[in-house]
Amino acid sequence: MSSNSFGNIFKITTWGESHGKAIGVVIDGCPAGLNITDEEINYLLSLRAPGRSSYTSPRKETDRAQILSGVFRGKTTGAPISIIVYNEDHDSSKYEGIKNILRPGHANYTYLEKYGIFDYRGGGRSSARNTVSIVAAGAVAKKFLAHNNINIVAYLKQVNDVIVKNKIKDLKTLSEETKKSAVFCPEEKSSLEIMALIEAIKEEKDSLGGIVEFIAEGVPVGLGDPFFEKIEANLAKAMLSIPASKGFEIGDGFDCVHTRGSENNDIFVVENDKIKTNTNHAGGVLGGISSGMPITGRVVFKPTPSIEKKQKSIDTEKNNVELSLPKGSRHDPCVAIRAVPIVESMAALVLADCLLLKRSSKL
Ligand SMILES: Cc1cc2nc3c(=O)[nH]c(=O)nc-3n(C[C@H](O)[C@H](O)[C@H](O)COP(=O)(O)O)c2cc1C
Repeated sequence: MSSNSFGNIFKITTWGESHGKAIGVVIDGCPAGLNITDEEINYLLSLRAPGRSSYTSPRKETDRAQILSGVFRGKTTGAPISIIVYNEDHDSSKYEGIKNILRPGHANYTYLEKYGIFDYRGGGRSSARNTVSIVAAGAVAKKFLAHNNINIVAYLKQVNDVIVKNKIKDLKTLSEETKKSAVFCPEEKSSLEIMALIEAIKEEKDSLGGIVEFIAEGVPVGLGDPFFEKIEANLAKAMLSIPASKGFEIGDGFDCVHTRGSENNDIFVVENDKIKTNTNHAGGVLGGISSGMPITGRVVFKPTPSIEKKQKSIDTEKNNVELSLPKGSRHDPCVAIRAVPIVESMAALVLADCLLLKRSSKL
């Protein structure tokens, strides 16, 4: 598995497994002089952690990040920043009885075929527990971006057929209202409808999919390097690296199939002597380069593979079996909820890297 690093200049390498001793990340290339504390990282981790509400997994992850290197007297030094989070609330014994069953929607079949070994305890390296590293690194990237007046907010846009339709308010209000909601949905009516859907699906011992939207404001013109470092290409790669993500769109995305060029083109205008567009169907990117308009995108997450409902499957000896999750198994009824801070972090990692890359594009 030689692909645990991401980014060109702001480069992260993640390590660890779900039920291993600890999990962590090394960040290379973060400029010196940035103020960052364990608390700032821990705040973002608390948003990602399960057990925040009854709409996520009841598993308790009291994650506490510790910065091991690269920070002196609260400021980054330019040296690699190493962050560790010890794994605490794991009970591997529950997985013993199902360790030889191919779990529908899970990664154990493909990992077994590819590596000949699978760490079945909580899904090992395939587990979403690994996104702890992404969020920890994302906290540093967000701080670096904020220092450059770039801010990102993600929120839950849709679960099943409940969609947030209202126009987005300013980014600060969007962020505050998103965090107030137990399901990270900024619109009260949709939030309540989503909670009702989650309650119902839990009763049915099943799970649901959802969509997370992100908006990045303050992104200057000129980030993104054609051909293979286009900003949306890197966003797509980052977002599709999140477990259970199944699609990525930039701007109006797949919806533009319903429009004509005359409707889809964003018309250039001058406002306060600055070039802008009067709409933003492109989602802030033209030719793989940021246009100065807000960057917007969406990520769709499949329904959680672990469900309490019994499912037919086979075991590693190719026998037909019925899979029932062990009593007391803990899982998310809709992973898109907890994916919100992860999408925000992934967007921050991509933009931080693009910002540093831009510094080398012209005299
Ligand atoms: C925040 C988050 C939480 C998740 N929690 C669970 C879970 O509780 N149970 C589960 O089966 N899958 C969960 N997943 C999804 C699996 O990790 C993922 O579906 C699996 O590894 C297979 O990968 P794939 O869906 O990308 O193909 C979660 C994903 C995310 C992003």
